[in-house]
Amino acid sequence: MTYRSFQPPVRTLMGPGPADVHPRVLAALARPTIGHLDPAFVGMMDELKALLRIAFRTENALTMPISAPGSAGMETCFVNLVEPGDKVIVCINGVFGGRMKENVIRAGGEPICVEDTWGRAVDPNKLEDALRAHPDARIVAFVQAETSTGASSDTRALVEVAHRHDCLTIVDAVTALGGSPLEVDAWEVDAVYAGSQKCLSCTPGLAPISMNERALAKVTSRSTPVRSWFLDLNLVLGYWHGDGGSKRSYHHTAPVNALYALHESLLMLAEEGIEASWARHRHNHLALRAGLETLGLELVVPEAERLPQLNAVSIPGGIDDAAVRARLLSQYGLEIGAGLGALAGKVWRIGLMGWSSRPQNVLFCITALGTVLNDMGANLDTGAALDRVQHALNA
Ligand SMILES: Cc1ncc(COP(=O)(O)O)c(C=O)c1O
Repeated sequence: MTYRSFQPPVRTLMGPGPADVHPRVLAALARPTIGHLDPAFVGMMDELKALLRIAFRTENALTMPISAPGSAGMETCFVNLVEPGDKVIVCINGVFGGRMKENVIRAGGEPICVEDTWGRAVDPNKLEDALRAHPDARIVAFVQAETSTGASSDTRALVEVAHRHDCLTIVDAVTALGGSPLEVDAWEVDAVYAGSQKCLSCTPGLAPISMNERALAKVTSRSTPVRSWFLDLNLVLGYWHGDGGSKRSYHHTAPVNALYALHESLLMLAEEGIEASWARHRHNHLALRAGLETLGLELVVPEAERLPQLNAVSIPGGIDDAAVRARLLSQYGLEIGAGLGALAGKVWRIGLMGWSSRPQNVLFCITALGTVLNDMGANLDTGAALDRVQHALNA
């Protein structure tokens, strides 16, 4: 057996993430590795935290990336904020809400689940009812952008309900950050986590988080130790914040080059402007929608609750889901996502996240999908769909 350097095939990533990584971000990864306590690196960390505050729209001092993927951001919030016996209301409208419930159990908490239909937003009225029924609940958790379905929940309204019942809030913004409006301070979100590989155009493997003073007070006043050593913020902060000045203590060896990449991607987001990024995601989504509708393909989520960055499309009857995705990948190098959980086999998930959210990707996806479906026996007017896309892109 002869081994060679791995050369990945050229792909266009239009699934649920990772999304296409911007060339500037890939170039940043290749810069020379320096020590994770080198003063130059510590300076870069401080800038990175400031850039993350711009992305999250917050002044929270505790704003930093966890050295692991989005799931570790989720786990960081739960292991630090949930103490054994704490009642936590978990709103579940897809796969990732279900994972939050698992996190509550493993942190020793008691989850109270508020279920919503997959493909719909979390209902603030149901949350209100649950909080009335459980006045001893301490925390409310929900996913703003449910990647498994493409549904967007109203974070501002849900946080407002939770606060009226004196609960802290944990918000999953893995797919939301950079792609659709999220105002951590203005909406008074207490704890939020995200992922590097979606609307930030960065490589997978880092989880930005942010917590306000109220959440941090809960972390620092726990009566039991955090159950994870690696994710214990009381320890991690010694590295990311140190003594408040430049002195940092070793906790773990930071993924130095990955953090260069995140810094570059956040710099690009700041250059574009966060509101412009939200608008770009929406603009390209509307163009994709126009093309899909002309091909006769329907989006699963009602319009008012749709995410621009993740489009769940009903698979027409008689179409072989896996065969279509396999042909898109082999003939066009185009990745779209399969359905997850309850939606497996029923939907395709077409992502327009970060650097993937570009006009040429929308045109490419409609061309490839229309052609593959026609090759498999459909009779779709791909030309008309492309006209509609172009029209929407020009709007
Ligand atoms: C909403 C949501 N939460 C959490 C995660 C987990 O992130 P990761 O796969 O980076 O661990 C994902 C990943 O797709 C996600 O979409």
